[in-house]
Amino acid sequence: MAGEARGFQKVANKGDLKEGGLLGVEVEGNKIVLALVEGKVYAMDAVCSHEGGPLEEGELMGHDLKCPWHYALFDVRSGKVSDATVWATDQKSYPVQVDQSTGDILVNLGGGAATTSTA
Ligand code: FES
Repeated sequence: MAGEARGFQKVANKGDLKEGGLLGVEVEGNKIVLALVEGKVYAMDAVCSHEGGPLEEGELMGHDLKCPWHYALFDVRSGKVSDATVWATDQKSYPVQVDQSTGDILVNLGGGAATTSTA
């Protein structure tokens, strides 16, 4: 079966984000939250693993994103839940590229989850 190889696709522009800010985007029906920390862009699932809170409406504190509903903390670099809020589980995070000339933000949804077989 020839599955569609999903590569990097444009989801936003760096001009849409401000330092320490969040932006929700939708990619192929997946809600993704982008975060800009120290000039770097990170992407992870925007639907909280706890009860589905909208992480793009959360609060960014350094690399930690706080869910607006029950305040689970996730590291935007890895999607990992903080040791302080273990009642939530890790979010999926995605590789990000930024086009240095245009500022376009590209995310690769097919990049992670090596153990998940959907073929
Ligand atoms: S829905 Fe995010 S912490 Fe509960």
